[in-house]
Amino acid sequence: METSEWHIERRSSFGSESPLAREAGNVPETGSLSIVVLGASGDLAKKKTFPALFHLYLQGFLPPDEVHIFGYARTKISDDELRNRLRGYLVPKKGASPQQLEDVEKFLQLIKYVSGSYDSEDGFRLLDKEISEHEYLKNSVEGLSRRLFYLALPPSVYPSVCKMIKTCCMNKSDLGGWTRVVVEKPFGKDLESAEELSTEIGKLFEEPQIYRIDHYLGKELVQNLLVLRFANRFFLPLWNRDNIDNVQIVFREDFGTDGRGGYFDQYGIIRDIIQNHLLQVLCLVAMEKPVSLRPEHIRDEKVKVLESVLPINDDEVVLGQYEGYKDDPTVPDESNTPTFATVVLRIHNERWEGVPFILKAGKALNSRKAEIRVQFKDVPGDIFKCKKQGRNECVIRLQPSEAIYMKLTVKQPGLEMSTVQSELDLSYGQRYQGVTIPEAYERLILDTIRGDQQHFVRRDELKASWQIFTPLLHRIDEGEFKPLPYKPGSRGPAEADQLLEKAGYVQT
Ligand code: NDP
Ligand code: BG6
Repeated sequence: METSEWHIERRSSFGSESPLAREAGNVPETGSLSIVVLGASGDLAKKKTFPALFHLYLQGFLPPDEVHIFGYARTKISDDELRNRLRGYLVPKKGASPQQLEDVEKFLQLIKYVSGSYDSEDGFRLLDKEISEHEYLKNSVEGLSRRLFYLALPPSVYPSVCKMIKTCCMNKSDLGGWTRVVVEKPFGKDLESAEELSTEIGKLFEEPQIYRIDHYLGKELVQNLLVLRFANRFFLPLWNRDNIDNVQIVFREDFGTDGRGGYFDQYGIIRDIIQNHLLQVLCLVAMEKPVSLRPEHIRDEKVKVLESVLPINDDEVVLGQYEGYKDDPTVPDESNTPTFATVVLRIHNERWEGVPFILKAGKALNSRKAEIRVQFKDVPGDIFKCKKQGRNECVIRLQPSEAIYMKLTVKQPGLEMSTVQSELDLSYGQRYQGVTIPEAYERLILDTIRGDQQHFVRRDELKASWQIFTPLLHRIDEGEFKPLPYKPGSRGPAEADQLLEKAGYVQT
């Protein structure tokens, strides 16, 4: 949020209830809302979760007379120490006004810290006591209180934490209110471990209580995909194998694993980015029109796409590891972990047979960018022989500088009848000046409060996505598939560009 646009507007967390929530039959709920950030001492909590809560607070979605926020972790710190740690992530870097500083302080006062372990009841009983006191103070009718648990924690502790929540911290009555649990990625390491985790958590919570977050689903242009595809006559007849030659979904970062090498080395780029973020985007690009916008209708269509993906062909995979990755002391010298991957997926259905979906992700590359590039086939019977024709492309840039643009061929202005490639450009910064695009986490946390699971991953979706990548991942883990070295700051291994060309992509 732009600092100049800060203002607190009083809204209930259901105040601007979405048509979708209404359609799904969710009734507005009131009563105290307790948001518990487990792993409050960690990186995600301070960089993303608390700032997202702060922005929701500023916009009036977390009214102080209903809401209290609890941080929970093992680290022994006081309320004030946690607040001091968070302050730097909330106060604008330059020129904070007195009003902004006051907003930060008021927000920080909503936060209470509880220290405890993740696998014993003492800490969670204490947490429950604190939550109950807050509920009592806010005059909530017992049973109508809402409890949201956000697991900003390593997945290894999800089962024990869920068990503790179930044993000690549930909303106390079935009369109303709710208890919801948000879990972060990576959810498992392969099909078997993900299913095991799902089963364990599934014994404790019903599917509507579990919010598997994938923050790419909260990005503005990812959320726009359904609208773009299904509300525009332009796209309806063209979005298929008859017209589209290939689709690229690309994630690049211009920095390495930066202090997260220990975590990253156990997962690698496919588990960190491709199996979740890029595959979710693929689903929205490739799925059929859902019956309605109800979460279950959308997720049913996503599962169908995932189940139609063919086994990955070895010839259509390029892995890379940037030079210097192993200099990180937390990364083993013999690490085989890819920090770059290009993988071609093929969808075996009537719409997409024969169209390669090229998923590419890499760390320490030459730029930071995430985009979808849909390349159309050549125009048949071309009559403009004077110059090589460029192909039409529809590019959806997720970040930075959100944009949708169409590359097309037009007449070169002037006396000659020659052609040139140009763009129809919808750059959000220009078209929507002054409009603040919400952070993905902000939007998704609000969805969890509203009970809208549209942008969260369902258990069968997760299973289908692991099914696609597990055989390849096992071979990488066993050292059968080796990453190629590439220079930091480059495009990645040259072989990835060759694969792109082989898959049919033509540089326009
Ligand atoms: P951290 O490593 O910072 O861990 C969060 C907290 O968990 C720590 O402060 C620590 O708290 C506790 N913790 C750490 N390791 C262990 C352990 N082995 N056993 C028990 N507790 C432990 O993780 P992040 O905050 O980076 O990530 C949290 C979750 O979010 C992970 O699942 C991660 O994959 C995911 N995620 C993170 C992103 C990021 O940018 N950081 C982005 C997207 C997803 P204490 O010791 O005080 O209890
Ligand atoms: C996270 C990955 O899920 O997404 C990180 O664990 C990555 O490795 C991050 O840096 C990228 O998110 P964004 O929103 O900056 O593209």
